[in-house]
Amino acid sequence: MTGLFITLEGPEGAGKSTNREYLAERLRAEGIEVLLTREPGGTPLAERIREVLLTPGDEQMNPDTELLLVFAARAQHLAEVIRPALARGAVVICDRFTDSTYAYQGGGRGLSLERIATLETFVQGDLRPDLTLVFDLPVEVGMARATARGRLDRFELETRVFFEAVRSAFLKRAEADPARYYLLDAALPLTQVQQSIDALLPQLVERVRG
Ligand SMILES: Nc1ncnc2c1ncn2[C@@H]1O[C@H](COP(=O)(O)OP(=O)(O)OP(=O)(O)O)[C@@H](O)[C@H]1O
Ligand SMILES: [Mg+2]
Repeated sequence: MTGLFITLEGPEGAGKSTNREYLAERLRAEGIEVLLTREPGGTPLAERIREVLLTPGDEQMNPDTELLLVFAARAQHLAEVIRPALARGAVVICDRFTDSTYAYQGGGRGLSLERIATLETFVQGDLRPDLTLVFDLPVEVGMARATARGRLDRFELETRVFFEAVRSAFLKRAEADPARYYLLDAALPLTQVQQSIDALLPQLVERVRG
């Protein structure tokens, strides 16, 4: 038995963390085991790497360092949490995963997509999400939401140009593989975003039950 691997993607303030619990609860109501986790992080060690990645500091982080730290945290998360959960047949919902690496380190920082793909295969083997929900919204809306939420992390301090590149990278990946990606208009009021998630539920439940 293998479970279902669902990832939630999109820029800051798009509503990934707001909606992950909603999706998890809807699936649990169907009697499905759900493991909710996030990246970077998801294990104590990976959460320590998250702190390094998100905390602004005096020393500028080299983009390659950033890329390797993201995948180092992911290797730990996969080994300790994601693979065991999938192996016992659970649905894993992960708030950000490798699409964020393509969007932030690839689109935002301008690192080579081929290099990211090489690390993806090195760390994940052939494991890819079964379904990726992309929460899309205009950059200024996301930034306003993130700013209203409180102190900004190392990524949230980036420029508008950076976030436009992040958004385009997510959209490009979603367009290239419509079978895997489900695009949501995250600028809509929360109740409408959740209606779009509801629309997806019957087919999700069907897939889990096989
Ligand atoms: N559809 C919505 N309409 C209005 N506000 C929303 C909506 N969805 C989420 N928010 C609010 O926007 C803020 C950011 O949402 P959330 O933390 O879920 O974003 P996120 O995608 O997890 O961002 P990050 O990538 O920075 O973690 C929160 O204060 C949340 O309440
Ligand atoms: Mg979040």
